[in-house]
Amino acid sequence: MKAIIIKILKKEPFKTISKTVDDLSVDSYLVGGYVRDFLLNKDEKKDIDIMVIGSAMELAKTLKKNLKGSKKIQFYKNFGTAMLEWQDFVIEIITARKESYNYDSRKPNVKIGTLKDDQNRRDFTINSLAIGISKKNFGELIDPFNGINDLKNKIIRTPLNPDKTYSDDPLRMFRAIRFSSQLNFDIESESFESIKKNINRVKIVSKERIVGELNKIILSKKPSIGFLNLEKSGLLELILPEINNLKGIEEFEGRTHKENFFHTLEVLDNISKVSEDLWLRWAALLHDVGKPLSKKFNSKTGWTFHGHEFIGSKMVYQIFKRLKLPLNNKMKYVQKLVLLSSRPIVISEDFITDSAVRRLIFDSGDLLEDLITLCEADITTKNPILFKNYHENFKIVRDKIKAIEEKDNLRNFQPPISGEEIMKTFNIGPSKEIGIIKEKLKEAIINGEIENEYESTFKLMKKLGETLGLKFNEK
Ligand code: CTP
Repeated sequence: MKAIIIKILKKEPFKTISKTVDDLSVDSYLVGGYVRDFLLNKDEKKDIDIMVIGSAMELAKTLKKNLKGSKKIQFYKNFGTAMLEWQDFVIEIITARKESYNYDSRKPNVKIGTLKDDQNRRDFTINSLAIGISKKNFGELIDPFNGINDLKNKIIRTPLNPDKTYSDDPLRMFRAIRFSSQLNFDIESESFESIKKNINRVKIVSKERIVGELNKIILSKKPSIGFLNLEKSGLLELILPEINNLKGIEEFEGRTHKENFFHTLEVLDNISKVSEDLWLRWAALLHDVGKPLSKKFNSKTGWTFHGHEFIGSKMVYQIFKRLKLPLNNKMKYVQKLVLLSSRPIVISEDFITDSAVRRLIFDSGDLLEDLITLCEADITTKNPILFKNYHENFKIVRDKIKAIEEKDNLRNFQPPISGEEIMKTFNIGPSKEIGIIKEKLKEAIINGEIENEYESTFKLMKKLGETLGLKFNEK
């Protein structure tokens, strides 16, 4: 192990960092996520944390001189931290510290500390490992909490009493769950019990930081690991009650409906196998969120969720607003996918008509591919015959889309005849007749009654105007 560590320390930027540390005769360590991911054989992280028993400012300034081509340097005096950019690395240098917390804030009171103090104040054993980079301990792994064993056994555990670690900085509850999801690790049971006890401490964490962790859970390979832990701990109910409300199956007159919480997690896992897009994954998470509010039972039809897509799309806005997620085109994208989320399914179940496909192309525009991807991820039936049939139907829908698109050029549809032209043709001003004619022209194109081109649209417009009693302007 030491040989591999030394090999990495002989590479830049570590080589120059080590030399600088020795020139200044200070004791220094490589710490944090870089060490964790390196020992896990993950892709090299570009964020490097260097801890120094001494002045972080002085080390940063000297390093800037020694590390050729390093860009800007930023100092955070209050925290004894400096940041330096070199190539695509961000090097954070921090003075070893001891932390204490006030009950109403996750901002620590910081005092200069020893290596041991600094390792004690960290969140998890797997993040407390330090590698010596100065002469005295070059390449040595200092691991007072046996983090290396936890890496091997895939365990998230706090170095000190978990109640203290989580209560001091409650963001760590989300970090624990995020790491469990990203790394597919278990949270040690004492730690998990402590999270359950401390969930109300989440009050002192900002929305932005919670969402930061939530997004990392959503972006992990199998996000359901994180969401199941969020649910089990009680945190889900506090931050995303709408997803928590999807839990459970109701029975009436001996009939039950689908369990929508586990279904949603399956859809999220499915989409994560085919897309890295955060917002498409959010759409998968929220696609059924309107179901509890639209749920009805009828003796004839059983359980129904009519209009859940519309209710869900309204809820998307409320959720984004509450969590301070971007209310711009990202929110609109998720909202539109949720609104349209059942449309391709309906098409694929019925006889697949050209006009239904045209309407789908027309309504979804640029979102069409993502919408179909979402709908394919939505197939979670455990019946292998149905599973195969649904997927085959979606293949047919995809083929039809391709064929119709090539022919009709419908994406981001602009009618071949504008409102202006209708006004000119009939010599009229803005009026409701224009809206009626435009809608009928669109319908005729979607239904395949006329081609999506000027000549035939003009002819139909003329006819429609005349039926409405408008006079054709010969000029
Ligand atoms: N840390 C901590 N408590 C926190 C945040 C961070 O103890 N609430 C410590 C951990 O030792 C962590 C290090 O600070 O390893 C660096 O934090 P950060 O850069 O946020 O996370 P990484 O562990 O590097 O992981 P990632 O980049 O994946 O977030």
